[in-house]
Amino acid sequence: MATLLLRPLTVILFLSLAAHVWGSNICTSRGVTTCQQCLAVHPTCAWCSQKDFGKGSTASRCDLKENLVDGGCTKSSLEFPSSTLTIQEDTALSSKASGTGDVTQIRPQKLHMALRPGDSKHFTVSVKQVEDYPVDLYYLMDLSFSMKDDLARLRTLGNELAETMGRTTSNLRMGFGAFVDKTMGPYMYTYPPEAVTNPCNGISETCLAQFGFKHVLTLTEKVARFTEEVEKQQVSRNRDAPEGGFDAVMQAVVCKDKIGWRSDASHLLVFTTDAKTHIALDGRIAGIVQPHDGLCHLDDDNIYNKTNVLDYPSLALMTDKMSENNINLVFAVTDIVEPLYKEYSRLMPGTTVGTLSGDSGNVIQLIEEAYAKIRSKVELELLEVPEELHLSFDATCLNGEIIPGLQSCSGLSIGDTVSFSVEAELRGCPKEKSSTFTIKPRGFKDALVVTADFACNCECEAKAEADSPVCSNGNGTYECGVCQCHKGRLGPHCECSVEDYNPSDDANCIPNPDSPVCSGRGDCLCGQCSCRANDFGQVWGKYCECDDYNCLRFKGALCSDHGKCSCGFCQCDAGWKGENCNCSTRIDTCMSSIGLLCSGRGNCECGICQCTQPGAYGATCEKCPTCPDSCTIKKECVECQHFKRGQYTSDNSCNRICKDEIKVVEDLGGELVSQTSSTNAVNCSYKDEVDCVVHFQYYEDETGKSILFVVKEPECPEGANILVVLLSVAGAILLLGLAALLIWKLLITIHDRREFARFEEERSKAKWDTANNPLYKGATSTFTNVAYRGN
Ligand SMILES: *[C@@H]1O[C@H](CO)[C@@H](O)[C@H](O)[C@H]1NC(C)=O
Ligand SMILES: *[C@@H]1O[C@H](CO)[C@@H](O)[C@H](O)[C@H]1NC(C)=O
Ligand SMILES: *[C@@H]1O[C@H](CO)[C@@H](O)[C@H](O)[C@H]1NC(C)=O
Ligand SMILES: *[C@@H]1O[C@H](CO)[C@@H](O)[C@H](O)[C@H]1NC(C)=O
Repeated sequence: MATLLLRPLTVILFLSLAAHVWGSNICTSRGVTTCQQCLAVHPTCAWCSQKDFGKGSTASRCDLKENLVDGGCTKSSLEFPSSTLTIQEDTALSSKASGTGDVTQIRPQKLHMALRPGDSKHFTVSVKQVEDYPVDLYYLMDLSFSMKDDLARLRTLGNELAETMGRTTSNLRMGFGAFVDKTMGPYMYTYPPEAVTNPCNGISETCLAQFGFKHVLTLTEKVARFTEEVEKQQVSRNRDAPEGGFDAVMQAVVCKDKIGWRSDASHLLVFTTDAKTHIALDGRIAGIVQPHDGLCHLDDDNIYNKTNVLDYPSLALMTDKMSENNINLVFAVTDIVEPLYKEYSRLMPGTTVGTLSGDSGNVIQLIEEAYAKIRSKVELELLEVPEELHLSFDATCLNGEIIPGLQSCSGLSIGDTVSFSVEAELRGCPKEKSSTFTIKPRGFKDALVVTADFACNCECEAKAEADSPVCSNGNGTYECGVCQCHKGRLGPHCECSVEDYNPSDDANCIPNPDSPVCSGRGDCLCGQCSCRANDFGQVWGKYCECDDYNCLRFKGALCSDHGKCSCGFCQCDAGWKGENCNCSTRIDTCMSSIGLLCSGRGNCECGICQCTQPGAYGATCEKCPTCPDSCTIKKECVECQHFKRGQYTSDNSCNRICKDEIKVVEDLGGELVSQTSSTNAVNCSYKDEVDCVVHFQYYEDETGKSILFVVKEPECPEGANILVVLLSVAGAILLLGLAALLIWKLLITIHDRREFARFEEERSKAKWDTANNPLYKGATSTFTNVAYRGN
């Protein structure tokens, strides 16, 4: 903590020190000599082009605006462009597609901004997937011999496919195309000669001559046409295992008119195959070296007629063209080649992969799923953004929570609206004065068009006077209040010339007697250093001691490309720090999906998690099956993903936070689990809200995918009913009391009986008479009178 606090402090200390050395503020410290340079220093800097400004004092023409105004600069000579943002087109988002004509899925649609170098502007883009959006589905089929059964199956599926897609859209068009491979050796059978027309010659069957790509059916609403055309198709046969499918994809993507892609529709290109594919540069084995040009080459018969001229297209070219034409490619491939196409898909944003069964029987379900997947994700892509303009995104996906640095939202359903907050920062001056670029959701036609003007130039430059009398009778150009001297002239008014050299002036050009004149990087003219800019950059300062290229570098980039070099020190852009500006001050990049910095298992250093917990890895140290707390973290995911309850379910963050695959098993010792058990797995259990113990195993495979095996039945303690316990305790006490009472009563009764018996016995024995009845008293009483002496 102490070091964390200390670091910014030292930076601030250093900056204020630096400011002290160079002058009072950032604008005056750079020693700029032109208006343009001044604007580039910092968005707060202004330039005064007034003729007599600062005469007799050292006041710089480049200063904070208020300083210039205080110094007497008139408004009209003040150059202080400011950044602005105007929304030019802001049509509301449509709710439904059908019947309404124009559909709007992004808002706003047009923006204009003016930006000064170093300045930034914010705006918000909202995107909505409207309901019932039209769909164009082009079925691209591998017709090599092994696809024979698939073709037979597809003949029966046309109507069903249309029906299924009809559930998501009322406006569907379908088309069909087929491919095999380039029609030359070694891709094709060329011997015996008959094999050219019937490549199945060798296996005593007949099939079609091999072809590259043929477009069969232009997108149409008539489902019957689809079935009809598919029925006419026949398989062919080629020689090598990989097929030329990417040639076909390229043509299907770029031949917009022939294929019939509508501009107002989702474009689904379904690519079915059971084999590997040739990729760019594979053409060399047949001597084809011309790279693909990314153009449409379908001839009048709808055949790709440059198949033997151009190489296979590269992944990058296909991705570009798909993005340009808003095509969503779906690889429907058999399980043997699925891993391969998954890798391709990773390299081609916007594509999806589905597993095709042996005979394509599940293709409808696959397309439906792929379409749902495509429609559940909104990802912004950027087209033609100038290098100097830096865009950063924060996404607000479903529950209004802002996720920094995210350019996409997933897990959406049709009709959901998501928004992205965009920050545009100009980090330098592009060559052009303005530029137009596009932000659009991948696969959508809708886009936001942004026109950006770069406020890098000063208005006063337009009024520059060449060979002005102000600059020593035409020895310089008078521009924005200062003379830009011709070569060989120097001084505020170009009053000196190289020829006027006088050795005694040199004393003014050295900081101390031992140093070289003008630090060896300039000439001393008229007692002033005229610094020589060199190939690396500008040199300035009284003794040419400053330059903008001798600063710390990181990975070869000056100030890590995140700051400006000024007289030996990096001045970092906002959001960066460190001597060489390579340390990001952001911490949101370290925030894990559960909202803990580096998942609580490490430190966020320069925007990157340094995992300190042994065994933890991943961008936010989120991966760590063996960490002691991994069970606690995954517990909530089991709760929401499997049981649909718990905290993540109530705040709706389950889909976002838990990306684990849930597999329900009978017990953790079972076959399914034990084949994965390794050092990457940990057995966990916890007590749920009803006191049942849930057992699960958290496992991560080598690709980092995490799987949670949850035991089907939680273990619940039996008969733990409190009422029963209470009642039985009360009952027991009652019973015991009753028993005690009964025993006492019994004892008393026995005792009494005995006593009575004895009494009876005694009574029967006794033959009392009055004489010796102890209770009898005689009726006469005799008293003896003591005082009577009777004689
Ligand atoms: C391919 O077809 C186009 C259009 O029909 C035609 O102009 C071109 O000459 C053909 N190219 C080849 C090599 O056959
Ligand atoms: C440059 O200045 C010198 C001296 O002030 C003057 O004699 C000369 O004519 C000027 N040069 C030009 C090209 O005007
Ligand atoms: C930044 O640069 C320093 C010095 O070269 C280096 O030690 C450090 O690892 C760098 N930091 C990052 C985050 O790249
Ligand atoms: C998890 O528990 C099961 C069954 O008790 C056992 O077979 C397996 O080895 C355990 N796995 C780990 C990683 O401890």
